[in-house]
Amino acid sequence: MTDQSSKPVAVVTGAAGDIGTAIAARLAVTHRVVAVDIDDAALKVAASKLNCAGADAIAVQCDVTKPDDLSRMAETARQAGGVNALINNAGGGAALSLHSMTADTLSRDLALNLEAALNCFKVLETALVASRAGTVINIVSVNGLGTFGHPAYSAAKAGLIHATRALAIEYGRYGLRANAVAPGTVKTQAWKARQEANPAVFDEALSWYPFKTLPEPDDIAAAVAFLLSPAARCITGICLPVDSGLSAGSPALARTFTQSPDFDGQ
Ligand SMILES: NC(=O)c1ccc[n+]([C@@H]2O[C@H](COP(=O)([O-])OP(=O)(O)OC[C@H]3O[C@@H](n4cnc5c(N)ncnc54)[C@H](O)[C@@H]3O)[C@@H](O)[C@H]2O)c1
Repeated sequence: MTDQSSKPVAVVTGAAGDIGTAIAARLAVTHRVVAVDIDDAALKVAASKLNCAGADAIAVQCDVTKPDDLSRMAETARQAGGVNALINNAGGGAALSLHSMTADTLSRDLALNLEAALNCFKVLETALVASRAGTVINIVSVNGLGTFGHPAYSAAKAGLIHATRALAIEYGRYGLRANAVAPGTVKTQAWKARQEANPAVFDEALSWYPFKTLPEPDDIAAAVAFLLSPAARCITGICLPVDSGLSAGSPALARTFTQSPDFDGQ
């Protein structure tokens, strides 16, 4: 049996969500996981499932947009052991379009998707630097790479891609690596309202993807585990899309631009 207390600590935010739970499950092989989420009930269920599967997950209810909550979360993480990984996964969008956006939804989207990730880093900065092999992975989105609606969320994710590079540049001297992972459409609770409004939403989304499979939560988790592993020891400052080719381009547009039948039937 592995001695859990000898494992380094990874902090995963949004750990009660579908992608967050998948990330926590993958990282539990190598880390004690501090599972952070605003939703206490869902977090308890997720942590219990992780622990039943052999993880050593510590649940911390925390609103990542609240400084006092972040200080409390960081203290728990430090008490759990040496923190060498932070996965900023908590996120979600409020405003659908610029027209529907208000000052309030703009603030919420920026606070959750950009500011919270940097503030999580700040409360764990000393521990991550002290580990001499710290890793920060920010879960961004294809919305940070292209324009697909949700403008404030997308601007925040684009900002987080930039912040990832800034972390890599400033903290590389301390052995810290920082990378981003940009998921495409992943069937999660975040899509519940849109799926209720349009049961065909995932089929419609899939029609835009060059590679005809939508990523699943564990595909995102696998990319995170890779970026955290020694196999990625010289990879820092990148944004890795896990998006079945969406950010690479559009077969339909290639058909129009070339008029070649080679792009038909996509
Ligand atoms: N699902 C997709 O299609 C998709 C695509 C691109 C990027 N992403 C990103 O992946 C990440 C995970 O998304 P998901 O689809 O698993 O969503 P999800 O809704 O299943 O999970 C998000 C989790 O974050 C938590 N959370 C929300 N606000 C919080 C706060 N203030 N403090 C702490 N926790 C908070 C929620 O309670 C939830 O458990 C997000 O950053 C999202 O932007 C998702």
